[in-house]
Amino acid sequence: MRIAIIGAGNVGAALGRNWATHGHAVGFGLRDPEAERYAPLAAVGRLAAPADAAAEAEAVVLATPWQQTEAAIAALGNLAGKLVLDATNPLAMGPEGLGLAFGHSDSGGERVAAWCRGASVFKTLNTTGAEIMADPRGYAMPPVMFVVGDDAARKPDVLRLVADLGFEALDAGPLANARLLEAHAMLWIDLALKRGLGRRAAFALLRR
Ligand SMILES: NC(=O)c1ccc[n+]([C@@H]2O[C@H](COP(=O)([O-])OP(=O)(O)OC[C@H]3O[C@@H](n4cnc5c(N)ncnc54)[C@H](OP(=O)(O)O)[C@@H]3O)[C@@H](O)[C@H]2O)c1
Repeated sequence: MRIAIIGAGNVGAALGRNWATHGHAVGFGLRDPEAERYAPLAAVGRLAAPADAAAEAEAVVLATPWQQTEAAIAALGNLAGKLVLDATNPLAMGPEGLGLAFGHSDSGGERVAAWCRGASVFKTLNTTGAEIMADPRGYAMPPVMFVVGDDAARKPDVLRLVADLGFEALDAGPLANARLLEAHAMLWIDLALKRGLGRRAAFALLRR
């Protein structure tokens, strides 16, 4: 699939490299495509202005800091008909450290959907660390990655993209369940960063 990744920091670069090795045509949408720090990614995919990258893509992945995400989407132009995979988490620093800026009755995923008019928006790729997104192999079981969104007809395409990265891709319901996924991301962050579990820890799904 032709995938535009908006932002090529920890998450964007990891996803781009992984998808490119699995045969997807990756482009990176960057505010400064000429910047030296992004030069190594030219071997992975085309470096372009965000609107140019998005225009060519069937799927647009948001990998920007939350505070920049609305502006980043506004700069993408018409997203109607495209898949949008929202990997952001609405994080903010509070009195007790890093936490969700809002939640329970609202989510970043739902706000993103309101900003991406006409697109099919999915929340996914937000509940584990960038190192695992770069390469989820090497665990006893594949790490699980949840996908939520309201476009049932196109959800299989998103589940396949997530599975291509090496995750067990799981349909976790409608987009409003982004409220649960963003809280789940916060649990991973808390365990990994504050409680010593480390960034290579991942959740998996057991069934019987
Ligand atoms: N790090 C993780 O392990 C992890 C895991 C799950 C989810 N997330 C979420 O994923 C998102 C990205 O995290 P990250 O760690 O990859 O952040 P990061 O390393 O800081 O990278 C952010 C990227 O976004 C770009 N950017 C910022 N504003 C932009 C704009 N207006 N338009 C286009 N691009 C813009 C930056 O480009 P410039 O060079 O132009 O600043 C940079 O390439 C966050 O929402 C985070 O909460 C992170």
